[in-house]
Amino acid sequence: MTDVVKLHYSEAGQGMPVVLLHGFPLSGLLWEKQQRQLGDLYRVITPDLRGHGCSPAPPGIYEMETLARDVWALLDSLLIKKAVIMGHSMGGYIVLAMWKMAQDRFLALGLIDSQAAADTEEGRQGRFQLAEKVAAEGSQAVAAAMLPKLFAAGMAAGDSVLERAREMILDTSRAGIIGSLNGMAVRHNASATLATINVPALVLAGAEDQIIPVAKAVAMAAVIAIATLTIIEKAGHVPMLERPEVTTTALRKFLSTVDE
Ligand code: MLT
Repeated sequence: MTDVVKLHYSEAGQGMPVVLLHGFPLSGLLWEKQQRQLGDLYRVITPDLRGHGCSPAPPGIYEMETLARDVWALLDSLLIKKAVIMGHSMGGYIVLAMWKMAQDRFLALGLIDSQAAADTEEGRQGRFQLAEKVAAEGSQAVAAAMLPKLFAAGMAAGDSVLERAREMILDTSRAGIIGSLNGMAVRHNASATLATINVPALVLAGAEDQIIPVAKAVAMAAVIAIATLTIIEKAGHVPMLERPEVTTTALRKFLSTVDE
């Protein structure tokens, strides 16, 4: 088993612990606005996953279970037994891996622009090719591949939201990007796990997500027992950046239904 990595994280507020995991290849800064806004009522923790932001980036394949163990170790170090744990995209894959490991530590969960299915063979090959490109060219290669698909229509180069995302991607190390691409490529199909979720679950997606179609969110919400489905209009794969206030309001509404 791979050793856990001590994650860098940011924390704001007091109250029920709410852990917000970012997607690939971003960082905890993805949730900066939501952390600040929800910090009035909750203890909001935004880790940088292994290989991202300011966390260490060891070489190797970052399997979702490995990333999940890092987050559990962080919560152990913060003496947090139970929390609401939400993940964006790859962060959602990690939430499902964490759920399989320790269901009793969840107060509720969130799957944000995420999915439960594994990659298709074509998707897997695409990740291996991108990993090779990143090995040769660096994080610029993944920025060029992802930025055109990250947002709803109308987002122009130079827009501060797009440039913020570009900055996060370019700040991610080669080892972090390659480890995550290879880890996502080998992740298991977690579709059967959805039916085991017996805590409140927020399934939220941007209506114009070009990376994970909104139909996947609708399908996941349909099989989770206590699901809240929220579709954010005029947002793509990163509604927390594209429509931060609307996203925070949706999170706040959901969190108000969760008992500690
Ligand atoms: C992410 O945003 O985390 C990734 O796009 C997810 C993926 O590539 O499957």
